[in-house]
Amino acid sequence: MRILFLGDVVGSSGCSKLVENLPSQKKQREIDFVIVNGENADESGVGLTQKICEKFFSSGVDVITSGNHIWDQKDIMEFIENEKRILRPKNFFEPSPGKGFEIFTTVNNFKIGVLNLIGNVFMKKSNDVFEAANQFINKFKLKKDFDFLVVDFHGEITSEKNAIGHFFDGQATLVVGTHTHVQTADEQILPKGTAFLCDAGMCGPKESILGRRVEPILHRMKTSMPQTMPVAKGPVEIRGALVDIDTTTGKAVGIERIAEIID
Ligand code: FE2
Repeated sequence: MRILFLGDVVGSSGCSKLVENLPSQKKQREIDFVIVNGENADESGVGLTQKICEKFFSSGVDVITSGNHIWDQKDIMEFIENEKRILRPKNFFEPSPGKGFEIFTTVNNFKIGVLNLIGNVFMKKSNDVFEAANQFINKFKLKKDFDFLVVDFHGEITSEKNAIGHFFDGQATLVVGTHTHVQTADEQILPKGTAFLCDAGMCGPKESILGRRVEPILHRMKTSMPQTMPVAKGPVEIRGALVDIDTTTGKAVGIERIAEIID
């Protein structure tokens, strides 16, 4: 069993390159299930729309996760209520539209749980992530409620992400971080069998600052003056992780970082 997780998709070019390339990648790499963090996939670089979600699904994405930008395009609030393949962080305040956890059936008939969480450090206010994680593992068990569990932890700092990785070790198949748009090189299998990568990185314009044009961001940082910060143009990087799973235990046997540049 092989899962592909792709990091934050940014803007139209990130979205279209991913959609164009995914079907052949799935075939070539024999991928059984695809999860994408899509919270920045709108052409503006924040939020996502029903139309974008449908493009992802028709290219072979199975689940779309998100984070702090999920509500930035308003039509998603209604769409998420009826589309269980889009998740928002489970520890958002209730009632928030949509869900933060769902169980899906893979093409090869396994049950896969996907949980979306958001960090508490340097992020907008939400429920305590460790409390939410604790409640989750008290309620759901790997190989009892699902065959595999993937956790997308949308957070800013590496220490909090590392801690969540270890918290779920042995209880999840994969814990992968998103949000910073910068891929880390710490892919590993934790001692009790959970694959971990602190941040999956971005699917978006390579020559950029987190997917945005360099000059306006530099100007804003140098002057603290407000700026429009358009999504950058040019070659797109596709980053994420490919995880191989032992279907008997639900634990990971391999994790490979994905980092490709597409012109
Ligand atoms: Fe984010």
